[in-house]
Amino acid sequence: MKKILVTGGLGYIGSHVVVVLQEAGFDVTIIDDFSNSSIKVLENIFLITGIKPSFFEIDLKDKVKVDTFFKANKIDGIIHFAAYKAVGESVQKPLDYYRNNLEGLLNVLESMEQYQIDNFIFSSSCSVYGQADQMPIIEKTPLKRAESPYGKTKAMGEEIISDFTKAMNKNAISLRYFNPVGSHKSYLLGDKSSGIPNNLLPYITQTASGLREQLIVFGKDYETKDGTAIRDYVDVNDIADAHVLALQYLLHKKNKDKLEFFNLGSGTGSTVLEIIEAFERANNLKIPYTISNRREGDIQEAYADFSKAKEKLHWQPKTSLEISMKTAWEFEKKLKENEFKIPNH
Ligand code: UFG
Repeated sequence: MKKILVTGGLGYIGSHVVVVLQEAGFDVTIIDDFSNSSIKVLENIFLITGIKPSFFEIDLKDKVKVDTFFKANKIDGIIHFAAYKAVGESVQKPLDYYRNNLEGLLNVLESMEQYQIDNFIFSSSCSVYGQADQMPIIEKTPLKRAESPYGKTKAMGEEIISDFTKAMNKNAISLRYFNPVGSHKSYLLGDKSSGIPNNLLPYITQTASGLREQLIVFGKDYETKDGTAIRDYVDVNDIADAHVLALQYLLHKKNKDKLEFFNLGSGTGSTVLEIIEAFERANNLKIPYTISNRREGDIQEAYADFSKAKEKLHWQPKTSLEISMKTAWEFEKKLKENEFKIPNH
């Protein structure tokens, strides 16, 4: 049984990936520092799969602890999620982002070198493309300067991995996610960040549940069909599946380059207003919203061409936007229910 380390495995995408890895027969070990997650996620993974993953609470900046971990655990492949991801916060606290996202990555790569681990999957983002000149975006679309320190840590991460894999003869894949949405079909895993959500879907679901008064739509003066910005919303379960395929691709040595890039998106662009409408229609609800100014650092439009992932990884998105909107809402409702539950003693 191949042993796979998932860093940040209690986060939104990471937790979904842990589940599909276990279901595919991998032995999963999680490292997480709870910076944007909770131990409850570990229990929920166990409720879904019946398998308790090994878990280590480690901040990847702690070189000594990282080294101790790798010394004691034989790992066949690493999927690296652990990173800060709030775009706005990264503008306020750039050094925290550079230190956390890059130092964590460097420590993991150094351990790969020291403990002869060959395979690495990096959690990257469509933000590395900036405002691309052409839609849909293919992997060869030239990268523009990322707007936020968060986006820059992803672009720099890819550069670091590229140099590292060449020099050390390692194999890596960088998965560039577009906008992940939805939740696990058990509604036990989903997008639950601490604090006020930055992203559109959790803001919508929290507005629906009454936690937020109204949604603020950032900008209605973009050159799009209804004036609001276009993104590619792709279901988190589909994104999770791509990680298993990417891992198998590396383990079976199907890669031609030391580092390969794949876009993971639905291939369809939706405006913010279309997403509100899709959510309302899927769940028979009304979302109160107002229009305000553009959010700093936002781009007008991004959606993916995922044909490379389809051809090489045999991946394609399966979940409709309607289903993602439903599961996102079911997850939010379940969160609320649990908050009011009095624990049994
Ligand atoms: N939006 C609103 N109101 C909100 C939140 C978002 O109108 O309250 C709009 C945004 O302006 C944007 C769209 O909804 O047009 C999507 O915004 P998100 O914040 O959900 O996602 P982004 O496209 O900004 O994606 C960014 C980075 C990704 C990163 C993601 C998660 O580009 O790389 O945030 O942090 F993964």
